[in-house]
Amino acid sequence: MPRLSSLALAAFTAVANGVALQPRETPGPIINFANNTGTPKHLASGILYGLPDNQTQIPSALLSGFGFNYGRAAGAQVGHGWSWSQPEFEVGHLFKSALSNYQLTRSHNGGFVLLLNDLWGFDTTQNSSSLAPGDNGDWSSYDRFLARLVQLINSNNMKAGLVIDIWNEPEGSAFWNRSIDQWLAMWGRGQAFGTNSVLLSGPTTAGQPSLSYNWWYEWASFVSSNASVPDQYVWHEEAGTGSSLSKSYNGLTQIQAKYKLPKKQININEYAIYNEEVPAGSAFWISQLERINAIGLRGNWLGGTKLHDFAASLLSKPDQNNYAATGYFTNGDYQVYKYYSQNMTGSRYGTSVSPDGIMDAYTTVDCGHVRCLMGVRPPATGTYSVTFNNLSSLGLRTSGSISVRTWKFPVASDVHFGRVDAPIDLGTLSHSYSNNQLVLPYYSTDNVTTYAWEWQV
Ligand SMILES: *[C@@H]1O[C@H](CO)[C@@H](O)[C@H](O)[C@H]1NC(C)=O
Ligand SMILES: *[C@@H]1O[C@H](CO)[C@@H](O)[C@H](O)[C@H]1NC(C)=O
Ligand SMILES: *[C@@H]1O[C@H](CO)[C@@H](O)[C@H](O)[C@H]1NC(C)=O
Ligand SMILES: *[C@@H]1O[C@H](CO)[C@@H](O)[C@H](O)[C@H]1NC(C)=O
Ligand SMILES: *[C@@H]1O[C@H](CO)[C@@H](O)[C@H](O)[C@H]1NC(C)=O
Ligand SMILES: *[C@@H]1O[C@H](CO)[C@@H](O)[C@H](O)[C@H]1NC(C)=O
Ligand SMILES: *[C@@H]1O[C@H](CO)[C@@H](O)[C@H](O)[C@H]1NC(C)=O
Ligand SMILES: *[C@@H]1O[C@H](CO)[C@@H](O)[C@H](O)[C@H]1NC(C)=O
Repeated sequence: MPRLSSLALAAFTAVANGVALQPRETPGPIINFANNTGTPKHLASGILYGLPDNQTQIPSALLSGFGFNYGRAAGAQVGHGWSWSQPEFEVGHLFKSALSNYQLTRSHNGGFVLLLNDLWGFDTTQNSSSLAPGDNGDWSSYDRFLARLVQLINSNNMKAGLVIDIWNEPEGSAFWNRSIDQWLAMWGRGQAFGTNSVLLSGPTTAGQPSLSYNWWYEWASFVSSNASVPDQYVWHEEAGTGSSLSKSYNGLTQIQAKYKLPKKQININEYAIYNEEVPAGSAFWISQLERINAIGLRGNWLGGTKLHDFAASLLSKPDQNNYAATGYFTNGDYQVYKYYSQNMTGSRYGTSVSPDGIMDAYTTVDCGHVRCLMGVRPPATGTYSVTFNNLSSLGLRTSGSISVRTWKFPVASDVHFGRVDAPIDLGTLSHSYSNNQLVLPYYSTDNVTTYAWEWQV
């Protein structure tokens, strides 16, 4: 028997025997059908880079198929930026690449985040003598850079949907490697864009907001007095189990209170480490982001031209080392986003993450068709109980039985590059419930596979 089928059978049997195993279950997510949280917009379907400059190289249907609706790019690692010299920037490929990615994203009605640090040339290819904005107290080059970008944005019709990310991950040595003060002085000058009717975003830190994190509280204090609060609050969630989105969100709330900053759209414009970019991790992240209504863009762990291909590890092709090669196909993770964006329609319902913070769930109901996508955050595995409350809000009786279908979302043996064309239908099982509540056991036995449950009221 092929490997995938035998695993599918194992999971199915485990679900069937669930009741006997109940005492060993860890408390999992709780879904409340009395808490309608609005129309799904598949907020987590954005990607960092991942688009070839040739706009027809990836078939359009493969991009819309995962709900592609937010891009972020600016020609990283494909040529010399402004800091090398303005003439190199003008003849070079960075801005052309950014413009092409912008146009492709707009053809999918997506928002597009332009990274100024990459256009400047601080995209990890800079060297120790490359000049950053404001080095030696000289801002003239940066001010010319901003003025030139405003021209380019206007002349290329790039304003719609555009978000300017002032600088990527300033706190590490890879992208900035300068002081907080110099970064904030640059931030203040970046407001030159604010009058150009495009959105601004930041502070785009690698670390998460907290009252004890200097890059965040010094930034908050500065933008408060500088009247330069951006349109989107941005940080990254790529610390593996070292970070928690709910904790980060609390950190932001505390900072907003202390520095009197307004509420704004949150954009986690890089989320998930490579090991989390698998069905289990993606389902976990989708649930986390949807709960706080944050836009989310998948992190991208590929380099060079691969960074500009594969839709941030949702697609693959036979000749992966040839940038211009075609023959694209979908991987296992892609199927999660396809289901999330195409099948999880109707209304969203409130869920809670498991008390241990490891298992999460995203739930929709469309014309009585309940769909619940679940994920245990890699590398964890385990057995959880998932609780569905207030079933009567769906028009169900408070006790009875429900026939639940299970979809399995596997990966191929080559996790990120192997082909998977569809999730696997594991069939239905009848479960009895009472007290207006259905409790089901969820078995995560590896660190990649995930499952969804469905039933029709
Ligand atoms: C049912 O929904 C109401 C309203 O959202 C909520 O207060 C209550 O806690 C829910 N019941 C359960 C058992 O979760
Ligand atoms: C872009 O990709 C398509 C599909 O592979 C190909 O037909 C076309 O020639 C490419 N265009 C350029 C300019 O390379
Ligand atoms: C960061 O700056 C220091 C000097 O302050 C330099 O030695 C180092 O090479 C720089 N790192 C990078 C990645 O540019
Ligand atoms: C370092 O980068 C600067 C431009 O930022 C360039 O002028 C210089 O030639 C580079 N040095 C080396 C050794 O590549
Ligand atoms: C914000 O900071 C920039 C750069 O430091 C400065 O030029 C600008 O005048 C400041 N704006 C306000 C309103 O303080
Ligand atoms: C998702 O919806 C499409 C279109 O209605 C349907 O063909 C497909 O079978 C559905 N997939 C799943 C996993 O339910
Ligand atoms: C409804 O769900 C949202 C999102 O999960 C949550 O923030 C909110 O507190 C819930 N409201 C109630 C009444 O349970
Ligand atoms: C996931 O499980 C596989 C197989 O047991 C193991 O080789 C791999 O190291 C695990 N990955 C992580 C991130 O723990």
